[in-house]
Amino acid sequence: MANGSKLENNDNTNNISLEGKKIKKIKNKAADNPDQFWSECAKNLVWFKQWDKTVDWNPPFAKWFQGGKINAAHNCLDKHIESEIKNKAAIIWEGENGESTTLTYNQVYCKVNQLANALKKLGIKKGDRVTIYLPMIPELPISMLACARIGAIHSVVFSGFSSQSIADRANDSKSRIIITADGGYRRGKTIPLKDITDDAVKKSPHVEKVIVVRRTNKEIAMGEGDLWFEDIINQESNLCESEWMDSSDPLFILYTSGTTGKPKGVVHGTGGYLTHLYNSAKWVFNFVATDIFFCTADIGWVTGHSYVVYAPLMHGVTEIMYEGAPDFPDQGRYWDIVEKYGATILYTTPTALRAYMRHGDDIPNSFNLSTLRLLGTVGEPINPEVWLWYYNVIGKQNCPIVDTWWQTETGGIMVSMCSGIENIKMKPGSGTFSLPGIEIEIVGEGGEKVESGKKGYLTIKKPWPGMLLSLWNDDERYKKTYWEKAPNRYFAGDFAYVDKDGYIWILGRSDDILKVSGHRLGTIEIESAFVSHQSVAEAAVTSKNDEIKGETIIAFLVLKSGFVSSEQLNREMNEHIRNTIGPIAVAEKIYFVNKLPKTRSGKIMRRLLRSIVNKETIGDITTLEDEASVEEIIHEINQIKKYI
Ligand code: WT7
Repeated sequence: MANGSKLENNDNTNNISLEGKKIKKIKNKAADNPDQFWSECAKNLVWFKQWDKTVDWNPPFAKWFQGGKINAAHNCLDKHIESEIKNKAAIIWEGENGESTTLTYNQVYCKVNQLANALKKLGIKKGDRVTIYLPMIPELPISMLACARIGAIHSVVFSGFSSQSIADRANDSKSRIIITADGGYRRGKTIPLKDITDDAVKKSPHVEKVIVVRRTNKEIAMGEGDLWFEDIINQESNLCESEWMDSSDPLFILYTSGTTGKPKGVVHGTGGYLTHLYNSAKWVFNFVATDIFFCTADIGWVTGHSYVVYAPLMHGVTEIMYEGAPDFPDQGRYWDIVEKYGATILYTTPTALRAYMRHGDDIPNSFNLSTLRLLGTVGEPINPEVWLWYYNVIGKQNCPIVDTWWQTETGGIMVSMCSGIENIKMKPGSGTFSLPGIEIEIVGEGGEKVESGKKGYLTIKKPWPGMLLSLWNDDERYKKTYWEKAPNRYFAGDFAYVDKDGYIWILGRSDDILKVSGHRLGTIEIESAFVSHQSVAEAAVTSKNDEIKGETIIAFLVLKSGFVSSEQLNREMNEHIRNTIGPIAVAEKIYFVNKLPKTRSGKIMRRLLRSIVNKETIGDITTLEDEASVEEIIHEINQIKKYI
């Protein structure tokens, strides 16, 4: 086996931690003196001014590298401009329609500076928020870096979200500018991004200007506050001084689903976040100068922020950015891209792999994938059989797999094999161990550590540089969501266990968050969207296991009197969800029911609904909720079962 990676061979090495020697040494160093350890890690970045204090930990708020002055765009660009990397390809971009462009570090640098100057002219200052609603085109990272350069806080909204979602986010962050495009391509269709933005702007009183990138060349209406991206940057100089940011000044807000109706604005800082990214990328991916890194994530999600934009650019590697769907125009698109550009690392999702696997080995086998040296997965648990397919068919047993567990809130990878330190025995479906400096503990209901082999809640014992600063304008919700469920620890919201060898196995969410095709959605957020339809009195959303998407959305709706269920209403409901959240939140199946199973205090028993739709045994329901009024619930379950 190449690269020293080993696959588990059931050798039953009892009670021996198989974590490698090298990584253990680094971890011990980190545990003995975390300040010194993270301080060394931070020295890999370019600082305008050194920090005075590694971390100011005022639980649960951490200020990393206090007193340090830094700029994210400077770390991604300027340091390369002064080196031989200047004319190296930074971004190889491929459009869904087959177009391709390469931008060197110098070209990205010039465009970022031009846009930064243009934003300044529009009155954007340090601390102002800018919403970015763009498809996967180079102008997206360029816009983020232009904001970072002048100290503006970017808030990227995934280009699959609806106008209502943009408006909610732009209002919460009080953005003054939205950057969008005349359209974007998805599975051959044109998405009218500018029209969607126009709708959002009507509901967003703080937005003064909309900057529009020309992508599709379709005729669009340009209003009074609208500016063409190209026009405004062409007038600007390609030099713009980087703003000296405090290390814990916010770099961005990224909204993500939580367990209430309203998405949370996760806020990340600058110096700590970048330190985590730089070092995690080095440990996990072992970036080298010749790498062609292909991370398939959309920048609208955190994986794209961290490992399409900031980490690879800080490392000066060449990356591939692909605009479209994995199955367009056919089932070989990712493999075609790997072959065409000679990708050395592929970082993708279990959902994409499951979909490709279904179409057999012949398609990937018809491409030359021999440039690949490392494979990665992220976003949801990977089934062992899919892991093996990835390993055998894509990696030809030559590429180690890094299964990386982390979250929007953690900023960067927390659990993974560290290929850049040493390869260890891999177990398909396990992320292996936590990264250096990251202390994970699985705990029970009362916050007590559970023994190995037992399922519990994943918690993090110590602050780490990439951790979120807080939730935008909501410190209370930040405290409550992450720091009060287990004493003095960060509560991740995932179930996990540690096996006898110390390997971490993630078992999925323990709360009302769904992972549909790896996308994070809140059941309550979707329920609120249903209830906002005039015909819906009550809604309960749960999920059903799905072979490709991991899980799919199932909705139970109680209609208001005067409304009757029909095919037409079903279609209307799907359209309503598309317009309030976006196409990713559309339910696989809607059941119109008379009543929902609830506890005596009125809480919907989503867990019970989940068992019903997955045809799992419901068991003794008296143990499900102490306060359940059992008979009524049995009656409701029987009603619901009739529908399924
Ligand atoms: C949730 C976070 C990680 C960045 C992209 C998603 C699930 C993530 C894994 C993995 C099993 C995983 C967890 C986590 N998750 N990676 N390797 N194995 N589950 O970020 O949208 O904030 O979602 O994704 O449930 O809590 P996110």
